[in-house]
Amino acid sequence: MRVLPVLILLLPWCIMGQQPATDGKTEEQLLNSCLDGMHHKQVPGPEGSLYQQCTPWKDRACCRGNVTEKMHQDQLFPYNFQWHHCGQLSPACERHFMQDMCFYECSPNLGPWLVKIQMKIRNERFVNVPLCASDCNQWWQACKDDMTCSGNWGKGWNWTSGVNECPRGNQCKTFKKYFGDATNFCQKIWDGSFTVVADTEPCMTQWFDGLNPNNAVARKRAKEIVQASTSELSATVSYVLLGVGVFLARLW
Ligand SMILES: *[C@@H]1O[C@H](CO)[C@@H](O)[C@H](O)[C@H]1NC(C)=O
Ligand SMILES: *[C@@H]1O[C@H](CO)[C@@H](O)[C@H](O)[C@H]1NC(C)=O
Repeated sequence: MRVLPVLILLLPWCIMGQQPATDGKTEEQLLNSCLDGMHHKQVPGPEGSLYQQCTPWKDRACCRGNVTEKMHQDQLFPYNFQWHHCGQLSPACERHFMQDMCFYECSPNLGPWLVKIQMKIRNERFVNVPLCASDCNQWWQACKDDMTCSGNWGKGWNWTSGVNECPRGNQCKTFKKYFGDATNFCQKIWDGSFTVVADTEPCMTQWFDGLNPNNAVARKRAKEIVQASTSELSATVSYVLLGVGVFLARLW
């Protein structure tokens, strides 16, 4: 009887094949996740009131009201990140960064794009979230003539003083000089958190009233992820069964 050892040998392969890219999350779990971060809730839910620019997410949010209020009152809260590192940003540009921060803290739609990382302020980040080109263009138009000293705000800062200071040798220049165009700006500003897609594709917006239009975008992506991992699993099972079948056939 040499079938048993072979089956035991195949077992780890079988189990490994069942570990999909989703970490085994179902569609509903992907759609009910909050980023694992310093101030995020564990799962999204209604908040009685969110503050000013974060208000659109109040029906279903990953942020708490007190966090959104403090964010608007103290620009360095909660991560000591200084937007105004080359003098004050214009009010229009600052509004876009505040909206982006509300999106980061509050959006309940990021589950399908979360990946694990190790940082003091969070254990997950999102990558390649599809941002609508029109959203990106407006953000860019508001900021392109403002000043910065980095073409990637996600890394490279000098944090010695506790607040981000310009990387050594980097001069203050316009966003236009550092980023060139709208697409490059939206994709690089947070180190690949966003990918810019045409408005005709499923894409996320940071500005909305009423029903959250990003729900449908997240649902579509969650379905795709679960379907891909299911077909990967059934392919693995087929291979294993085929292997066992061939082995048994040779025994006879
Ligand atoms: C916000 O309120 C929650 C409890 O509802 C509390 O745990 C948290 O520390 C508060 N955060 C801030 C920044 O005040
Ligand atoms: C970081 O900033 C401090 C001042 O806060 C400065 O003394 C130090 O030289 C800087 N380090 C680098 C690598 O730029």
